[in-house]
Amino acid sequence: MEKLSRREFTGGALGSVLTWSLLETLFENEAFGDDLKPITGKWLAEVSEVSQDLKDEKVKQVIWQEKVEELFSKVRLDELLELVDFERLRKNLKIKAKSETSLRFNFKKAEGAPSRVAFGKQIFALNKGNSVIPHGHNNMATAFLILKGELHGRHFDRLEDQPKHLIIKPTIDRKFKPGEHSSVSDYKDNIHWFEALTDNSFIFNIHVLGLKRPGTKLPTSRVYVDPEGEKIKGGLIRAPRSNFRELNRKYG
Ligand SMILES: [Fe+2]
Repeated sequence: MEKLSRREFTGGALGSVLTWSLLETLFENEAFGDDLKPITGKWLAEVSEVSQDLKDEKVKQVIWQEKVEELFSKVRLDELLELVDFERLRKNLKIKAKSETSLRFNFKKAEGAPSRVAFGKQIFALNKGNSVIPHGHNNMATAFLILKGELHGRHFDRLEDQPKHLIIKPTIDRKFKPGEHSSVSDYKDNIHWFEALTDNSFIFNIHVLGLKRPGTKLPTSRVYVDPEGEKIKGGLIRAPRSNFRELNRKYG
């Protein structure tokens, strides 16, 4: 891979508010020119395989969650970052003042890695106080791996859908550091919300969409919900349904 000088980079990103230093803080010197280790390619193949199995309904959503989190706990972050195609990433440099900023990227070719992975992926960039705002999901399995920064992560089980509310139950509520991870499915920890406690926080995200769920005709999508709802018995919350704009104003 051709090495980029700092000047070339800054020139290319002119007009963007995501600066060299923000991306540099993610990649440090790891991403530049090192050979990829075969073990990283094999790791990517394993994440892809279990995601394909999920699409093919060979594994259940909660098993995908377990396996992906196990794989996330094994990978070294510097090796994972070496897989990220930096050239592609630098084309979409724009970090929003509020909310999450989604950075799109491709994986580099690596020994043992599939040419196409069976999951969608992105990197979220957040500064202090920005959030991946609270939302649930329909027909989706998704997982987060913290790459950099500290975040306050919360998950909720989605127990019941009502016309204007969801009945939810807090399941995870703690600080997340680099290397830590969590996951979502239709059946477990369906709602998540991550607030950055530090500037230059980055989250690696994978997702598998369009999963079939017997007994429901809901479209594949995010479901926006405000977890600060009415506390009801058994530690549950009657959380109002909401929308991106409203939640972004409140939590973004
Ligand atoms: Fe999500």
